[in-house]
Amino acid sequence: MKNFPFALNLTAVSILAISMLGFSGCSKDPNSTGIEYAPNMYHSVAYESLTQRDPNPHTRDGKNMIEPVKGTIARGQLDYIYPYANTPEDYERAGLEVFSPLDSTEENIAEGKRLFLQYCAVCHGENGMADGPIVVAEKFPAPPAYNSERLKNLPEGKMFHSITYGKNLMGSYASQVNPSERWKIIRFVQTLQKQ
Ligand code: HEC
Repeated sequence: MKNFPFALNLTAVSILAISMLGFSGCSKDPNSTGIEYAPNMYHSVAYESLTQRDPNPHTRDGKNMIEPVKGTIARGQLDYIYPYANTPEDYERAGLEVFSPLDSTEENIAEGKRLFLQYCAVCHGENGMADGPIVVAEKFPAPPAYNSERLKNLPEGKMFHSITYGKNLMGSYASQVNPSERWKIIRFVQTLQKQ
């Protein structure tokens, strides 16, 4: 029993020490990860492209992931280059200068129709008569019919421009349909302009 106070002290000291260790992990800087034990276990010694802590001394901008040269085009993405801005002037220019790389073949029109029914018919209607279900339900204002005075002679370049950037109430469909799909849809829409 003589040892009792001493043993108690030891317990108290270790509790204090452990809780201090715990608190020392909290720093005022919310971005700080606090003290790390064996940091090499968290941070790769090798240069990793997707994670980086310190500036890389071997690259020009200090980043591990070297940026592609300006103007680089990813493989297979050539048709994503569309050098027209989302402006009224470039909309007009697109109407004069942008033409479909795809012919009006049966396959292109059929695939265009499939995509049109999937993405566009909800407003424009299956036959482009502006009678899609959400327009009929009065949830969305009616677009002009494709065979209307306003759209029956709309050049394909303007269509491509409008699908890419959107037009007034119609949003952009650039993330839903890739450029070649847009042209297939346009081949189908052109059959609706003539009806
Ligand atoms: C949410 C309803 C909605 C959907 C979905 C929609 N549109 Fe439209 N679209 C409109 C409206 C509204 C207009 C009229 C825009 C204006 O000129 O004010 C329009 C206009 C157009 C025009 C004429 C653009 C111009 O330059 O005058 C084309 C072409 C067109 N849409 C094609 C499509 C295609 C292709 C799709 C599918 C990829 C599509 N739309 C999906 C509502 C929609």
